[in-house]
Amino acid sequence: MNDESMMTRLRRRLHGNGRQRIKARQAQERPAPVFKSPREIQIMREAGRIVARVHQAFREAIRPGISTWDLDELAATTIHSHSAKSSFLGYRGYPANICTSINEELVHGIPSRERVLVEGDIISIDVGVFYRGFVGDSGWTYPVGAIEPAAEKLLQVTEDSLNAGIKAIRSGGRVLDISAAVQNSVEPSGFHVVREYTGHGVGRAMHEGPQVLNYVSDDTDGRVVLRPGLVIAIEPMVQMGTWRTETLQDKWTVISEDHSLSAHFEHTVAVTNRGPEILTRL
Ligand code: MF3
Ligand code: CO
Repeated sequence: MNDESMMTRLRRRLHGNGRQRIKARQAQERPAPVFKSPREIQIMREAGRIVARVHQAFREAIRPGISTWDLDELAATTIHSHSAKSSFLGYRGYPANICTSINEELVHGIPSRERVLVEGDIISIDVGVFYRGFVGDSGWTYPVGAIEPAAEKLLQVTEDSLNAGIKAIRSGGRVLDISAAVQNSVEPSGFHVVREYTGHGVGRAMHEGPQVLNYVSDDTDGRVVLRPGLVIAIEPMVQMGTWRTETLQDKWTVISEDHSLSAHFEHTVAVTNRGPEILTRL
């Protein structure tokens, strides 16, 4: 997510001052969850499939020598061929179709002609589309050629934590179940769950309620009950050396504070009577 108000809220909460007052406002500012009808979920399924096709194209295209600009163009072509458009382009002034974040870059890296992948890199690519009025949102971290065993482990741990979060979904359960599952899945590895960025509800807007933290806290959205019709993006972000992040001069690119490797996996998931349904998958 990149909702400035959500980020500021979290930062304030983490770093103190005026705790009570800010907490009260937090709850007030919080967008309410929006429940979707079966017809709306059907459109979101189609939006999700388009996002999954873009990721499939990346899987085939990623190799040493390709630039993040080439990946942005590939995304634009694939998205437009399905009569969809990027939900990132122009979002709060974001200048590209996708986010491409390499190595210590966690999220929101901006594609560039100058940034060329080399063997051993890891690249997190985040894709969002609008299709018939609804959003699909999914991110994945890919290896470029052969990567270090420690990097392999980071990717595995982060992907596993996404799956653990998804599996924790059941109708009648709560958002906090997802947060706990992600955190418990990551922490035995010794890696660190990022706290300043979170998952979120998805629908006509890219960011709806509830906020979906990747760790347990007293956050009020943790108590939101999961019911059929709720669609959420679960997106664990995990760093090797610290949970702390900083934002580069370009005002977008988020990196780990200690420059250790960072990974991000995200799926858009619908809550159904039979449990979770991953929408951003083929
Ligand atoms: N996909 C991101 C999220 O999960 C948002 C991307 S930020 C943008 O919330 F500015 F590029 F849109
Ligand atoms: Co998201």
